[in-house]
Parts: sequence; C-alpha cells; structure tokens
Amino acid sequence: MTITNEIKPIFTEKLIQEKIINLSEKINNIYKNEELYLICVLKGSVMFTVDLVKHLKMPVKMEFIRLSSYGSGTISSGKVNAVDISLPDLNNKDVLIIEDIVDTGHTAKFLIDFLNNNFKTKSLKFCSLLDKKIKREVDIDPDYYCFEVDDKFLVGYGLDLDGYYRNLPYIGYIEQ
Ligand code: IMP
Ligand code: MG
Repeated sequence: MTITNEIKPIFTEKLIQEKIINLSEKINNIYKNEELYLICVLKGSVMFTVDLVKHLKMPVKMEFIRLSSYGSGTISSGKVNAVDISLPDLNNKDVLIIEDIVDTGHTAKFLIDFLNNNFKTKSLKFCSLLDKKIKREVDIDPDYYCFEVDDKFLVGYGLDLDGYYRNLPYIGYIEQ
C-alpha cells in the first residue's frame, strides 16, 4: 500500500514537547506527591502518554485501555467500542485519563460514565492533547488540554488515518 495523502504540518515536535512540559508542571503542582493512576486510551494517546509521564514527579501507575470510535475514514461514528477496558480497583484513587483528542466528546463521556459507574474514585480528571471544541456533540470538556484545534482531520503523534501516520513526531492535517 502506498500512502499518497499530503500532510500539512500544524504543530511541530518542538512545540508539542514544550506544551507537554508546561502541562506536566501543572499536573505536578496539582497532585504534589500523591499517587496518581494514569489511564492511557489506546491507541491514539500512546505518544502523548509516554512523553508526559516522563516529566511527572509523583508515584504513577500507568493503565492502558483500548477504545475505538472512528473506524475507518475521517467522520466520527459517535459509537464507542470498548475493545479492552480491564482496569484495577480505582476506588479512592486519583485518576487522570489521557486522550489524544476530544472531538464529538462521545468517547470522553463513555469513559467518564464507565469509571463513575464502576468506581468511587478520589478524583477523576480528563486530560487531552487536543481539543476540537467546534465539533462537540455532548456537554463535556477536558480539564486540561494542550491545543485547541479547528475542524480538520489531524494525523501524527499518535493520531491516525486508517492506522497510518501515528509514528509522525509532529501533528498535521490532511486536505479533504
Ligand atoms: P470523539 O468520541 O468523537 O470525541 O472522538 C474521539 C476519538 O476519535 C479520539 O480519541 C481519536 O482517536 C479519534 N479522532 C477524533 N478526531 C480525530 C482526528 O482529527 N484525527 C484522528 N483521530 C481523531
Ligand atoms: Mg483516541
């Protein structure tokens, strides 16, 4: 298979890393030395999670779950599929969800509802690298995010189109 799409860069690797350092300082300040459970939502937030976690100073436990909502193509289905959502006991824990992007908000809502229905966490916050506010269909906002983005289909740094481009160190968009 050959990939022929032209990617227009938006956020450079350097800028992404700077924003992540700023965000990590905020998180370090909020949780101080309290143990923190990070929930990385695979596959999209893998890059963001591993870069962010290197700057965190509190004791951290990393959990990985796999949700999917896009299927193939660039239009959100609105349906969330829990591919693997096995988690340890999160009762009375500080929990921070790590996502790549909040688009319609269905995935974020699904996950927050799932956690609230199954655990009484000490705190539950939602952190997303990108926030595509303009596309929101449900009333939900990330507690922390690095960049607000326009209604464009983005790839790179974990974000994919049909599974490709996740390995790019920068974020760009595909002309549609
Ligand atoms: P939502 O449920 O519509 O908020 O979509 C959330 C998920 O869709 C994200 O976790 C991404 O995996 C995927 N997604 C949303 N927008 C984009 C995009 O612009 N590029 C790649 N994936 C996206
Ligand atoms: Mg995702």
